[in-house]
Amino acid sequence: MTHNRQWILRERPQAEVTGQHLQLRSVARPIPGAGEVLVRNIYLLVPPAMRLWMNEEDSYVPAQPLGETMMGITLGVVEASDDPALPVGTYVNGMGGCQEWFTAPAAQLMPLAPHPEVPLAAYRSVLDVQGLTAWAGLHEVCRPQPGQTLVVTAAAGSVGSLVCQLGAGLGLRVVGIAGGPDKCRWLREECGIAATIDYKADDVAARLDALCPGGIDMVFENVGGPVLDLLMERLNDHARIALCGMVASYNAGGTQSANALMRLVTKAARLEGFLVRDHFHRYAEVASRLQALVLEGKLKYRIDILDGLEHLTVALDRLFHGRNLGVQLLRLSPERLA
Ligand SMILES: NC(=O)c1ccc[n+]([C@@H]2O[C@H](COP(=O)([O-])OP(=O)(O)OC[C@H]3O[C@@H](n4cnc5c(N)ncnc54)[C@H](OP(=O)(O)O)[C@@H]3O)[C@@H](O)[C@H]2O)c1
Repeated sequence: MTHNRQWILRERPQAEVTGQHLQLRSVARPIPGAGEVLVRNIYLLVPPAMRLWMNEEDSYVPAQPLGETMMGITLGVVEASDDPALPVGTYVNGMGGCQEWFTAPAAQLMPLAPHPEVPLAAYRSVLDVQGLTAWAGLHEVCRPQPGQTLVVTAAAGSVGSLVCQLGAGLGLRVVGIAGGPDKCRWLREECGIAATIDYKADDVAARLDALCPGGIDMVFENVGGPVLDLLMERLNDHARIALCGMVASYNAGGTQSANALMRLVTKAARLEGFLVRDHFHRYAEVASRLQALVLEGKLKYRIDILDGLEHLTVALDRLFHGRNLGVQLLRLSPERLA
């Protein structure tokens, strides 16, 4: 295999991403220069934020340029090396792009030491950005107190499901809001969450009143929109909202109602946006704590893998229609070549 397939952004989407916005092209496989390594990508993370990267305006990263390889968060293996720090066969995390191969200086990559009892894909999911995001938003922004009530949106998703379980482990009363009975059942029966709300079928306001009779102390917000308004109407004094993301608006835009925002004033509550990158200095410590929980069977996670780089638009579509069960990854090549 001497070619390299890669996605380029052809046109900026105004709503959902379709085949017209992205183009899959085949180019020559890159050759590493002095001090560089050649990496074969194995897993490509497909996060909701990828949709934001396609917008004209910068997000937390500069806007994806048109006509260039789509940015991508990858896990791969070193196949050729001109740096003894990263020998051939080393698994690495990096910003390898939506493509099968890339070259980079060794210093730009993070070598992995996978535990034999943990699937390799977990190192680009629960034990990576999603885990650190869940941990940082819960501990640093929500600042939980035992016995308090925490509501989590997109609760069965990759970040949300970890927040639910970490919160329950701290003695919080956790209410998870997710789309569909299967996701809600998984949260209750596998993840041990006390209560769930199916926002697609339930009367969310009535269920919140029933499940949070003493009000809401913390919200871990992944979605935004009308459900966040309902949560803000039920905030207790000095409540905290960790604004992790607003996935409901990534394709469509949207705003919160002024009445709901005014509750932040009348309850002296705090809504704080946060970015996982500001917490990377805790990466090794948090990943090791989460790995211990995974090995003890105390932290459940799901990884939703589609085979083949060509399925990028399908994977994005799954995220925005709630069809992903856990972290959405594309597998671009085998973990080990035969
Ligand atoms: N701040 C940070 O540094 C940071 C880092 C990582 C992720 N994030 C954010 O965290 C959130 C979750 O990301 P994730 O990677 O864990 O994805 P995820 O939750 O695994 O997948 C996205 C989920 O969002 C829900 N969803 C999609 N469109 C929706 C809509 N219109 N209304 C309600 N729910 C909708 C779907 O679940 P249902 O089936 O339940 O609808 C879907 O499965 C996103 O907002 C993301 O941008 C932020």
